[in-house]
Amino acid sequence: MPTTLSQSNLPGLELIHRGKVRDVYALPGNRLLIVATDRLSAFDVVLPDPIPGKGEMLTQISNFWFAKTAHLVPNHLLDVPLADVLPPGTDLALYARRAVVTRRLKPVPVEAIARGYLIGSGWKDYQATGAVCGIALPAGLQQAQQLPEPIFTPSTKAAVGDHDENVSFDAVVKLAGRELADKVRDATLAIYRWAAAFAAERGIILADTKLEFGTDEDGTLYVMDEMLTPDSSRYWPADQYRVGISPPSYDKQFVRDYLESIGWNKTPPGPRIPAEVIAGTEAKYAEALQRLAGITLA
Ligand SMILES: Nc1ncnc2c1ncn2[C@@H]1O[C@H](COP(=O)(O)OP(=O)(O)OP(=O)(O)O)[C@@H](O)[C@H]1O
Ligand SMILES: [Mg+2]
Repeated sequence: MPTTLSQSNLPGLELIHRGKVRDVYALPGNRLLIVATDRLSAFDVVLPDPIPGKGEMLTQISNFWFAKTAHLVPNHLLDVPLADVLPPGTDLALYARRAVVTRRLKPVPVEAIARGYLIGSGWKDYQATGAVCGIALPAGLQQAQQLPEPIFTPSTKAAVGDHDENVSFDAVVKLAGRELADKVRDATLAIYRWAAAFAAERGIILADTKLEFGTDEDGTLYVMDEMLTPDSSRYWPADQYRVGISPPSYDKQFVRDYLESIGWNKTPPGPRIPAEVIAGTEAKYAEALQRLAGITLA
């Protein structure tokens, strides 16, 4: 059975960050304990109702992809049993599938996004300027059309409550230095290409994905945070894909559609979500996990 957890509570551990989804604790030895909760955010607002098991599904999808892509780019995961780091008396079952022990890295201050298709903010920017993040694209492309080749379209990490903003590669060079910027771009595109090919064999299009990177004391680059989850990526069932529309995706579309239908103004507090929308969202995450990784969290 999936467990439900809106907020972690691990007395004795130092909570250093409560994100929209993840609670992050410091561990000795320059390590972190990252707990993916079942909090659901939409339009950057955390909604009052959790999605049961969502944090478990996100963690299992990430772990699957971290393992699959380790030959391309090293990742932040450390192979440490949770029982060794959780405070005595913790309900292990509640955390077993949603928590990971990682290296504590210095974040590269950009969202590293790769796009193979023209959708979302990429489509918006293209319509306005003919380019995405300063990369000029051929004229006459349609919504959701596949790009001639995947592109690196970084964005800045917005402060709490703000939305991320697309920036040029030069802006990344200014923030991180040329060498690191090159490495982040190459790693992002390598992971995207590999994952898109893997998903394609399972009848799924990986339209785009957002990665986060960090460096250790030696300057080694690792991919961190979450990886290729429905929260960080646009997955489209290939059989429902066509250009000129925004194809349905394995993510929060269910919730977003509901929120649009009730005319919520997208500012906090978020509204309560009906049970059938919660169940529908849960099913979408489960389907993504099953179709991509072949994992069922029964
Ligand atoms: N290995 C790591 N080392 C350092 N920081 C990490 C590592 N892995 C993830 N993080 C950070 O931990 C946090 C995870 O929290 P979460 O994903 O919920 O945040 P978010 O909602 O995306 O953004 P915000 O932190 O602004 O709320 C992110 O700030 C992420 O950058
Ligand atoms: Mg995040």
